[in-house]
Amino acid sequence: MQIIDLRSDTMTQPTEAMREAMARAEVGDDVFDEDPTIHQLQDMSAEKLGKEAALFLPSGTMANLVGLLTHCGRGDEILLGDRSHIFLNEVGGLSALGGIHPHTLPNRDDGTIPLEALEGAIRHSDLHYPPTRLICLENTQNYCFGSPLTPQYMDSVTELAHKYGLKVHVDGARIFNASVALSINVRELTRQADSVMFCLSKGLSAPVGSVLCGPRDWIERARKWRKMVGGGMRQAGHLAAAGIVALETQVDRLAEDHLNARTLAQGLKNLSGIKIDPEKNPTNILFFKLDHPKVTPEDFLAHMESQGIKLLLMEGGVFRAVLNRMVTQEHTQSALQITKSILERQ
Ligand SMILES: Cc1ncc(COP(=O)(O)O)c(C=O)c1O
Repeated sequence: MQIIDLRSDTMTQPTEAMREAMARAEVGDDVFDEDPTIHQLQDMSAEKLGKEAALFLPSGTMANLVGLLTHCGRGDEILLGDRSHIFLNEVGGLSALGGIHPHTLPNRDDGTIPLEALEGAIRHSDLHYPPTRLICLENTQNYCFGSPLTPQYMDSVTELAHKYGLKVHVDGARIFNASVALSINVRELTRQADSVMFCLSKGLSAPVGSVLCGPRDWIERARKWRKMVGGGMRQAGHLAAAGIVALETQVDRLAEDHLNARTLAQGLKNLSGIKIDPEKNPTNILFFKLDHPKVTPEDFLAHMESQGIKLLLMEGGVFRAVLNRMVTQEHTQSALQITKSILERQ
């Protein structure tokens, strides 16, 4: 049976070119800072994002954690969205390991947090308050329909943060989906922030790895935190080699995922029993709700799985489907046909 896995873009397998590059990579001990392929990936990443320096890490979660540990001390407060990945899905590492206090503010459906809300949440100096140190933004915003934040919004938040002496960290796990969706150079989205992390292992199809970018002295401090949390990886140039191919060959291709997502969203919209607003889902991540008199979300999930379609069921009967390189235009059409037949035979 053909499997169409829409659970996440982390399901992407490395390309042939990545496999070859991994096999051939020249490597050294990265804890000694002697891996030439990692240096190449880090330099390339910093240059692409318009930052002085970069650091290769095993995962997006560790890259965010190391970023926060480098920006904040114990007892500092950060402002972030209530639908942010850092708050929802990173095991509370910022508090457990960093003693950092998360102050969440409601994300709107387009991923933004109103500027007034951010400004209102910045603490003034008072014996009773933790000091506000950092604002975290996520671009694209996974749990806000994969929405891209615009350069104008990034500019205004950074301007506000800097006015109050705060720093800005961007969880850019899918920052290239944002730049491709907005048809702009990724630097337009990253130039303002003090630090940015992005993932190589999602839509870009590399098997492992994320990169944290920022000022050179800040990255040197981040290197120490990476070592402390166990992210020093020795001959990881074999992994970085795939990351280089990802940056060279996979960024523009993300547009195909966005197109397939749009096709799927528009097809789903026409099915009775499914609620989705295609306009609200502008990149590769779709959220839709099952609203069928006879099929429960759990049954729908099971029927789909029995026909080879894998989805994520979230809370409240909401499903997530993430388009990625392993899901072609033809797969998208078959997924639609299978969904239709499951809903119609009930
Ligand atoms: C927005 C966002 N940030 C961070 C991460 C964490 O990345 P990783 O799974 O590599 O730890 C994810 C993973 O899905 C994500 O969607």
